[in-house]
Amino acid sequence: MTQTTIEKIAVSDGQEALICGWVYNKRSSGKIRFLLVRDGTGIIQVVIAKPELMDAFDRLTQESSVKVIGRIRADARAPGGYEMEATSIDIVQIADEYPITLKEHGTAFLMENRHLWLRSQRQWAVLRIRAEVIKASRDFFDGNGFTLIDTPIFTPAACEGTTTLFETQYFDDKAYLTQSGQLYSEATAAAFGKVYCFGPAFRAEKSKTRRHLTEFWMIEPEMAFADLDDTMQLAEDFIHFIIQRVLENRQRELSVLERDIEKLRRVKKPFPRISYTDAVQVLQKEGSKIKWGDDFGSPEETLLSSKYESPVLVHRYPTAVKAFYMKPDPQDPNIALGVDVLAPEGYGEIIGGGQRLDDHALLLKRIEEHQLPKESFTWYLDLRRYGSVPHSGFGMGIERVTAWMCGIDHLRETIAFPRTLYRIYP
Ligand code: 4AD
Ligand code: MG
Repeated sequence: MTQTTIEKIAVSDGQEALICGWVYNKRSSGKIRFLLVRDGTGIIQVVIAKPELMDAFDRLTQESSVKVIGRIRADARAPGGYEMEATSIDIVQIADEYPITLKEHGTAFLMENRHLWLRSQRQWAVLRIRAEVIKASRDFFDGNGFTLIDTPIFTPAACEGTTTLFETQYFDDKAYLTQSGQLYSEATAAAFGKVYCFGPAFRAEKSKTRRHLTEFWMIEPEMAFADLDDTMQLAEDFIHFIIQRVLENRQRELSVLERDIEKLRRVKKPFPRISYTDAVQVLQKEGSKIKWGDDFGSPEETLLSSKYESPVLVHRYPTAVKAFYMKPDPQDPNIALGVDVLAPEGYGEIIGGGQRLDDHALLLKRIEEHQLPKESFTWYLDLRRYGSVPHSGFGMGIERVTAWMCGIDHLRETIAFPRTLYRIYP
């Protein structure tokens, strides 16, 4: 008997198959017993009519592990469109009383039991969509001439401001967990042309919001001989590609989540583009108290993006609110050639990036102004001494995009084991 998976069950229609999984739920109806078995790829209804299997059925508890053999048949009423008529049940382990029942539980309790909560349908759907977002991202860059070059996790200095650094002991020295691979990707872009890095980023975010994790995953392309417009175009093509992949390959998961997929379907290229300065005017007209020079907070992002069905690219922010490495606009040094992509439906910033400062003297000045340790940036400044070119790129947060694709409002469910201000267990 060959083992099959629930995802591929249609292939076994009319035949006997073996499914290895866990009991999701069980119920009786007259003389017939039903087991819902999940195997990680889906859930199947197992019908138990044989008297000799009743004892096994009675012993099974929620989340007991089983190997079930039975005949597969199409049935429109069964979840997933197929059911299995059991011929044998091999019990692997009888589970203790499972703490997560199918009734409602509070989030704190579920988070404390995250290692088990992952088995529920909704979490399954979210994390499968996350996997699709990552696969699509890798495929997009691999297919467009980018080389994956990993960047270090232990770093000697800050990339995204010194207030959110996680410091750690590094033998007799101090090191910081990376906030972004960007600075290293700038070095690899000068070696390989078009590169990307993909890995975890760490930020000691002390605010407790639904959009911030202290450990999140970021994918960051970087291109030599590319300006702000090039990076905006890349961001647009990239996001559009991810949405198409999720819509194509994760229909089941989207329907488990009851995601309104029309909203994703309505995302169309070209995405709207608006300068920060124009965006401030739009926001003011809508009643926002924002003044030119203020950074956008989540209320401004939500208000602005609510005007569009596609993500909106906001470009040319005030230099003062952006990172030290951003190139100033040649027309106006108070403006930086940066871009943020704001997702629709209130999901906020999913991408941040822009064109990098490529002039040695100015970059050195910025490092001093930001009081960054110059010694740690010698190598970074070198990139402006040996064949400096216009270059640009961005970073996209996997969890933010996953939350948007899934239509769920908190980032904590978009990563298997979320790390936040108050949580490092399990
Ligand atoms: O806008 P950020 O800070 O940009 C950078 O780190 C650049 N160095 C990237 C680059 O140009 N290569 O972060 C980029 C994205 C954000 O738009 C957001 O999607 C995500 O990373 N992000 C977070 N996601 C979850 N939790 C946090 N605390 C996040 N901080 C940023
Ligand atoms: Mg940002």
